[in-house]
Amino acid sequence: MEKSIAVIRGDGIGPEIIEEALRALDAVERRFGHSFNTSEVLMGGAAIDAVGNPLPDETLTVCLASDAVLLGAVGGPKWESLPGDQRPEKGLLGIRKGMGLFANLRPARLLPALADASPLRAEICAAGIDFLVVRELIGGIYFGEHKTTGAPGSRQAIDVMAYGEAEIRRILHVAFQSARVRRSKVCSVDKANVLDTSRLWRAVAEEVAKEYPDVAFENMLVDNAAMQLVRNPGQFDVMVTENMFGDILSDEASMITGSIGMIPSASLGENGPGLYEPIHGSAPDIAGTGKANPVGTILSVAMMLRYSLGMPAEADTVEAAVDTALAAGARTADTAKPGETVLTCRQMGEKIAQLIQEV
Ligand code: IPM
Ligand code: MG
Repeated sequence: MEKSIAVIRGDGIGPEIIEEALRALDAVERRFGHSFNTSEVLMGGAAIDAVGNPLPDETLTVCLASDAVLLGAVGGPKWESLPGDQRPEKGLLGIRKGMGLFANLRPARLLPALADASPLRAEICAAGIDFLVVRELIGGIYFGEHKTTGAPGSRQAIDVMAYGEAEIRRILHVAFQSARVRRSKVCSVDKANVLDTSRLWRAVAEEVAKEYPDVAFENMLVDNAAMQLVRNPGQFDVMVTENMFGDILSDEASMITGSIGMIPSASLGENGPGLYEPIHGSAPDIAGTGKANPVGTILSVAMMLRYSLGMPAEADTVEAAVDTALAAGARTADTAKPGETVLTCRQMGEKIAQLIQEV
């Protein structure tokens, strides 16, 4: 098969992790006889430096015309003093919105080989950790009005959080449908004891739940959910929540499975291409040192093969190659125990690419 993939390397460790994701894609091409045509486009800090705009029109056009988009990470201290609407992150939010990517899937799974890398106690890990965070991605406080007014000394800032029923309903459906092919449990996370948006969220969630009588459903307040994630993460199957809660809880979810470097994500719309990126950021402090972990990005390639390119066997192969590498003891700096051999980002990528040809 022939497929077109838009590639955004991004900033910080973005280029190096994308290099390893492309190596994995090459290996898939060779093993399965596909042809992936990649087009590199700019977004984030790199785009600000090149053309003065975090999301050039051409980038969105190329992305929308592709079968899928692969992204590294954007942002860094270099652009931190820019006004909010000109920062690299604005490019990321713009591309999510511009492509209509309302559903962000972030799977958190503790691999037995990495149980030691989890900061949680062994008996908590022993119950297994395997859940999916379904994060609403183009609504809520990220996309409400942002404004700072007043003179220094009496300044005031506001960020508006708004949700409409239709936005809530469609993400809830994604969660319930995901649960049906997993362990049939949905936990909807909100702050309904304080926020109106959450009370509406909960009312809509309860309505949608009635359409899925085969799926167990519960509501949970976000503070409790943050606590349950470290107390007993094995209880979760699918956790669905609004944009900012999902941002925060998915970082927590990633850490309990060993490292934020391990978690991939898929951002999907009603139809059209999806966007695939690791959930971690651009980690400018380790850029160029070889310490980055490419696994989250390579697993994002697996999600891309599965959700946008219609290649489930190829996706399984990439995931099996990652599992095999980790089971054989391959570790990057973030997951190695003291005294263990540490692979560079590139060495890890080469190891996985080689296994894609063999497993
Ligand atoms: C993420 C990131 C982004 C977000 C930032 C970089 C804007 O933290 O994808 O989780 O908050 O959505
Ligand atoms: Mg985040």
